[in-house]
Amino acid sequence: MVEAYKFDEVLKEKSGVTRLTLTNFRNYDFLRLEFDIGPIVITGENGSGKTNLLEAVSFLTPGRGLRSAKAADIARITTDVLPKQNYLWAVSANIVKNDEDFTISTAVQQSQKDYGDDLRVFDRRMVQIDGQKASTQAELGKYISAVWVTPQMDRIFLGGPQPRRSFLDRIVYAFDLEHAKRTAVFEHLYKEWYRLIKSGVKDNVWLLSLEQQMSAVGVSIAAARREVVARLNTFITKEPDDVFPDLRLALDGSIEQMLDTKAAVDVEDFYRDSLFKSRRNIFTNETIDGVNRTDFKVFYQQKNMPAELCSTGEQKSLLVSIILSQTKCQILDKGFAPVLLLDEVTTHLDRFKRDALLSKVRDLQIQALMTSTDKSAFHSLKNQAQFFETGNNQVVLS
Ligand SMILES: Nc1ncnc2c1ncn2[C@@H]1O[C@H](COP(=O)(O)OP(=O)(O)OP(=O)(O)O)[C@@H](O)[C@H]1O
Ligand SMILES: [Mg+2]
Repeated sequence: MVEAYKFDEVLKEKSGVTRLTLTNFRNYDFLRLEFDIGPIVITGENGSGKTNLLEAVSFLTPGRGLRSAKAADIARITTDVLPKQNYLWAVSANIVKNDEDFTISTAVQQSQKDYGDDLRVFDRRMVQIDGQKASTQAELGKYISAVWVTPQMDRIFLGGPQPRRSFLDRIVYAFDLEHAKRTAVFEHLYKEWYRLIKSGVKDNVWLLSLEQQMSAVGVSIAAARREVVARLNTFITKEPDDVFPDLRLALDGSIEQMLDTKAAVDVEDFYRDSLFKSRRNIFTNETIDGVNRTDFKVFYQQKNMPAELCSTGEQKSLLVSIILSQTKCQILDKGFAPVLLLDEVTTHLDRFKRDALLSKVRDLQIQALMTSTDKSAFHSLKNQAQFFETGNNQVVLS
């Protein structure tokens, strides 16, 4: 049930990043910025470090950030004759969650593991919350949440389902912190199962145990996706946007669909048996059906049009619709506002939609970091946003 008063009440208290400090991060040697909780516009030339700033903020949340980067690619690369000895990086921040202050820092540290005559060095991402080492990255989700749109997502409705599935799973994590663990566990089990069969290991007990675990985790993944999709659909029906398209979201996946009519335990049995039967598919490179194949379908409701058949600007508008409803739903569900990271979000939007998006972001009174090469696109936020300019590996207020 969407209760307007609760929504307003949550937004009275501010959540977001108030100070960001980067060390040896991408093109920044050392950088410290103070942010307001509200719209923040970051403009600058191509390659001046706009997306890197958003990526740094995304590292305050669980996962591999908005570029799905490898930890090793993030440390600053320089043209020094002698490469920097210290190739580790850190992002730290003062944040507020409903007006309460916290500090978060995340850094990559090296650890060594001794394999007899082989000493291997690993990069490990460490997380501290208020100076205390967090046991898992998932802890971060209790303090800060981020919703992002990147230019790579402009083509999300075209092509194979993998990026759409990841997009959906990221939305699900925001509502259900356990979901990140579930998908990681499933992926790990699946790789192990696939590798065993492919290498001809005939350990039936081991394979059956993996199939049992995969079907149990798989059904909980499917159930969590279904719940979040249903919740967003309900929200969209009750609170349709006046500018951005009405959406209908759906899941195209055999396990998710089976949960429409069957009890979870029965779906689990079916899934386990189907994995058992599909062992032979691995030798013929046939697909293995299951939650690792699910597609996230989006429809433009008013036009009754699947997203993949919509125009470029319409697809961008659909994306904006999804993240606006996700943001509002999250505010209601979690009781605090996420930070929006909108990288080149105005691209493909006509002027009316662009200005509508900016005023919606402003009216929500949440923190939104928005980038562009064109400052004039944000003219409507003059005196209502913080404006920063990137260049020469620095960021200045403009
Ligand atoms: N590990 C790294 N060390 C140093 N510089 C890096 C590293 N990784 C990426 N860069 C550089 O950082 C610069 C800024 O990248 P970024 O993606 O933030 O630019 P941008 O301002 O978003 O540009 P665009 O407008 O093209 O999107 C680029 O020149 C990129 O090559
Ligand atoms: Mg960029």
